[in-house]
Amino acid sequence: MIVHTVADLRRARRALPGRVALVPTMGALHAGHRALVRAAKEAADHVVVSVFVNPLQFGEQADLDRYPRTLEADAAICAEEGAELVFAPSVDDVYPLPLEVSVRTGRMGEIVEGAARPGHFDGMATVVAKLFGMVRPDLAFFGQKDAQQLAIVRRLVADLNLDLEIVAVPTVREADGFALSSRNRFLSAAERVTGLALSRALFAGRDAVAGGPGSVLAAAEPVLAAAAKEDPPLLLDYLVLADPATFTPVASGHRGPAVLAVAGRVGATRLIDNLPLEF
Ligand code: PAF
Repeated sequence: MIVHTVADLRRARRALPGRVALVPTMGALHAGHRALVRAAKEAADHVVVSVFVNPLQFGEQADLDRYPRTLEADAAICAEEGAELVFAPSVDDVYPLPLEVSVRTGRMGEIVEGAARPGHFDGMATVVAKLFGMVRPDLAFFGQKDAQQLAIVRRLVADLNLDLEIVAVPTVREADGFALSSRNRFLSAAERVTGLALSRALFAGRDAVAGGPGSVLAAAEPVLAAAAKEDPPLLLDYLVLADPATFTPVASGHRGPAVLAVAGRVGATRLIDNLPLEF
């Protein structure tokens, strides 16, 4: 069932007994989202998928305008994967008043991906807090693909004492390693070839993990440098080894978990990817 208003969502939510899982999305669902819904379905009695392109987390109007909107196909995928409810509200329903009170993500929202996209994580965390309030899920599922988002959502739940569990689901990749994303559909064949350098750099870094953080970065960097000379070129934004909980870059002698994260632009499309590592 698709519901479009908060009032209808609340009515439908009250009729769902047992544990309810939320999979928040912006639509244009692909196999990565299927994996989220499947994991949610295994863990809970009922699954709600939200489909909402959140204007608050977009910097450029053009990026918001061209974000793919495919609600019919999305609803079919949700039904195939056994989600009971698709919540697809309007902007006015989610933001009925000009925002006075919103979520600030502080330093965590300003570093790494946040430095490239000012305000993005505040907008993301604000809508996620709203979705938690509207759906009142027992669990919510997020992709590892957006590792910094995942870290910030975990921190949102901890800092605001929210009563739900956040579950991370591994990134789904194509056979050649390219991480799935709703934005991949914008890539030309040549842009995709260049963009493949992101995952190749991460895998090269992972293969060097025994040598420590310095070796990981040294192994990944040449792959990205070569892609910067391709036609079309990769315009590298960052390659960073970060603490998965805070996203602060780790020191050279770091021991324990870390996430190797990379972002760059190919043509008009911004791509991000990451791999969790253990030192
Ligand atoms: O990851 C996304 O698709 C979005 O950032 C989210 C979590 C649905 C919030 O708009």
